[in-house]
Amino acid sequence: MGELRVNASELVDTYGREHRDLRVSLTDRCSLRCTYCMPADFSDWIANGSLLTTEELLTVIGVAVENGITQVRLTGGEPLLRRDIAHVIAGINALPNPPRISLTTNALRLAEVAQDLKDAGLQRVNVSLDTLSAERFKEMTHRDRFHDVIEGIKAAQEAGLTPVKVNSVLLKGINDHEAIPLLKHALANDWNLRFIEQMPLDAGDLWARPIMVTANDIQQELEREFTLTPVPTRGSAPAEEFYVDGGPATVGIIASVTRPFCSACDRLRLTADGQFRNCLFARDETDVRALMRSDLTDAQKREGIREILQTVTKAKLPGHGINDPNFVKPERPMSAIGG
Ligand code: 5AD
Ligand code: SF4
Repeated sequence: MGELRVNASELVDTYGREHRDLRVSLTDRCSLRCTYCMPADFSDWIANGSLLTTEELLTVIGVAVENGITQVRLTGGEPLLRRDIAHVIAGINALPNPPRISLTTNALRLAEVAQDLKDAGLQRVNVSLDTLSAERFKEMTHRDRFHDVIEGIKAAQEAGLTPVKVNSVLLKGINDHEAIPLLKHALANDWNLRFIEQMPLDAGDLWARPIMVTANDIQQELEREFTLTPVPTRGSAPAEEFYVDGGPATVGIIASVTRPFCSACDRLRLTADGQFRNCLFARDETDVRALMRSDLTDAQKREGIREILQTVTKAKLPGHGINDPNFVKPERPMSAIGG
């Protein structure tokens, strides 16, 4: 058995955090309009010509991997709207020392492509699903596509893109009574369920602290029905995991707002238009697209990408500051930054 060779991470910030995880947004477009993400009439899209080409993406990801990235997560918007998604995955998998590859998707196209993506080298998927009611799904996403998501999850499981993680955002008075049914359904269907606290990143500026369902609320609600015991190891994973009724099944809670996990963060981000960010909530971005499209030689471009990665990492703040009184949310919404 060959040993997994891991490049030393050169991406260490001033707080000693080693960066291993690169989240890559493949497009800001989406086939749903989740209310907590974008308004139904959202139209402020990135220009097509500004999206990184697949070749550009593979170059940037390749340099990131040389510098110690071991995990690439493809996201959006909705990454399956990128027609050449299998080609992107195969390209990443063909890099020297390939990283683990996962994908965060709304699953609308997943049934169609799950097997191709698996064959291309995808390891896992995270699916976003906030309700078990087709009617509520339509209200929450402005699209009548609930059954496509369920079929997509099944197809992912059949293709071996497992364990399938399902992410749910609970909104007060809308779907917060579904925490227990969602967990029951997840246990019965082998979904690895995680609840995500709603974050102030939506294009419509709907987020407000008083209407947020907190990690404590979710825990209390689940404990009406289940016994939750914390799983000891967490590492850099954002979810706090709990054994359900003694395990082995678990449920996760991602408490980005009320229990931030920034001190263990190992993530960097690349937006669909080629901007590096050191945090979902960062106010600054560094452009790699202009460099990629310049007249420099390939070797100079690679060196430039490496320098940008280092600079962006070094500039990372200790935390996202959502809870500071003078917090200002990033200029771009989550669909542009990549979830
Ligand atoms: N707060 C929390 N989670 C969000 N997502 C999208 N917007 C927000 C928000 N404002 C979730 C999606 C998906 C993941 C990428 O992020 O539901 O599961
Ligand atoms: Fe699309 Fe995801 Fe935003 Fe929903 S949360 S509109 S699925 S990008």
